Amino acid sequence: MKSSRSLAEFVSLKSPICVLSLIVAVLSGSVAQADTRGEQLYRNCTICHGPDAEGIPLQLAPALSGLSEKYIIEQLKKFKGGIRGKHHEDVAGLRMLPLAQTLASDEDIQAVASHIVAQASSQVETSLEGGDATKGQALYAVCQACHGPDGKGNDLLNAPSLVNQHDWYQLTQLKNFKSGVRGTNPQDITGAQMRPMSMILADEQAMKDVIAYIQTLSK
Ligand code: HEC
Ligand code: HEC
Repeated sequence: MKSSRSLAEFVSLKSPICVLSLIVAVLSGSVAQADTRGEQLYRNCTICHGPDAEGIPLQLAPALSGLSEKYIIEQLKKFKGGIRGKHHEDVAGLRMLPLAQTLASDEDIQAVASHIVAQASSQVETSLEGGDATKGQALYAVCQACHGPDGKGNDLLNAPSLVNQHDWYQLTQLKNFKSGVRGTNPQDITGAQMRPMSMILADEQAMKDVIAYIQTLSK
């Protein structure tokens, strides 16, 4: 009773500032709610992606903390719809696929993505050997058109950030795009944009070279 009366008094002041602060209070309440929901949902993800979304190599799970909200949402929708991760040779994608099904609605997908992007992105360890970053820099000239000279990606082109991402994950993805394990579902429009780019990398050595250069952008 007391609180509703004071709320009525508060509103009855009719001061624009008070009304504004009321709106702000209500809005931040709903943001806080989405945060809690996102945090709750993310508990199902920590076992593979880690508590800070830094990724866990043994689980084949990439870092998520450096990715944009838009990209995370789109990938979750693709996994949920079986547009990514359904190929029978996609060992890692098939692990992720059922997890996206645990996100029941677009609101849940939004909430968990907001929670992930709120985590600070930290540098990850390099693990691949034998990549030549100087040769890779020349190859990266093509990639930067979409992923940016700094590797941070471009939401307008649907190109994700490549910095602070595990090198082993990037090698798997480049191989998957090239072999058609990723990006060949007819509904995968953004995957189809990346696929021809993987084709210009002649072999595994070229992939390792460009990844070695990408890793220098994270430092
Ligand atoms: C059983 C382990 C596992 C769990 C649990 C899991 N993931 Fe994943 N996730 C993976 C793997 C493995 C990949 C990499 C798939 C690939 O290589 O294509 C992945 C990929 C992703 C990607 C794509 C990243 C990129 O760079 O394209 C997103 C986004 C993602 N997961 C979000 C989530 C969210 C959100 C949750 C919790 C609801 C979750 N994952 C739970 C294993 C898991
Ligand atoms: C025409 C724009 C474009 C160019 C050029 C391009 N990419 Fe991409 N790249 C994309 C898009 C779009 C995606 C996201 C695909 C999806 O939605 O599944 C992507 C995804 C990726 C991924 C997977 C990232 C992740 O988190 O799963 C890697 C790795 C990658 N690109 C590397 C490269 C490299 C290396 C080059 C240069 C040889 C390159 N890209 C050139 C558009 C591009």
